Amino acid sequence: MIIAIDGPAGAGKSSVAKIIAKKLGLLYIDTGAMYRALTLKALEDKIDINDTARLIEISRRTQISLRNSPDGSLEVFLDGRDVSAKIRQPQITRFVSDVARVKEVREVMLGLQRELGQNGNAVLDGRDIGTVVFPGADKKFYIDADFKERVKRRHKELLATDSKITAVEVEADLSNRDKIDSTREFAPLKKAQDALYIDTTDMTIEEVVQRILLHIKNPK
Ligand code: DC
Repeated sequence: MIIAIDGPAGAGKSSVAKIIAKKLGLLYIDTGAMYRALTLKALEDKIDINDTARLIEISRRTQISLRNSPDGSLEVFLDGRDVSAKIRQPQITRFVSDVARVKEVREVMLGLQRELGQNGNAVLDGRDIGTVVFPGADKKFYIDADFKERVKRRHKELLATDSKITAVEVEADLSNRDKIDSTREFAPLKKAQDALYIDTTDMTIEEVVQRILLHIKNPK
């Protein structure tokens, strides 16, 4: 079974997707982590983030792989190196949407994402899974929450690794990424017509998980 979970940053997609994958014994594919890994490489190689030609070039010669570790966490490898922690740094978050808007970069990631899901047993989370990557997915969900709530959640999450980050900074990042991700020309963030929309503003992660599991068993 292929399960597609899309939605904006901070809506709780990855926490939910990880739990669903574990419960159903499916592979968890965090597609945002792939764009993040490529952004890390671009920054390490000192590539100008507006230099589309160079971004395309590195996307074609970069190896990105994901591994679901037994404890349920996700490990991300860039050219064989574990970059799981590095790709969550604010510098990466700041530029990732600029990298992800390049059509040819998306084509490379699309190929990789389809390859990872080709055995048909995966939960993928991202922005364009239900619309572009797996339009024929067995189940599709669009996870959303009020902007203020998403800022609150993301701020709390980031404080665990960066005690100085402020809510104002998180708000600026989310609003910038929301704008770029949903207005870009290729594969913008959008709810697939046949996706179940879940507003998680007043829900706990466990409630969202239960809602999704119920829909998988009993689609209405
Ligand atoms: O889910 P995330 O915040 O880790 O994703 C990082 C960025 O990657 C996001 O702002 C947009 C981009 N992205 C994308 O364009 N398409 C996807 N399927 C997943 C992520």
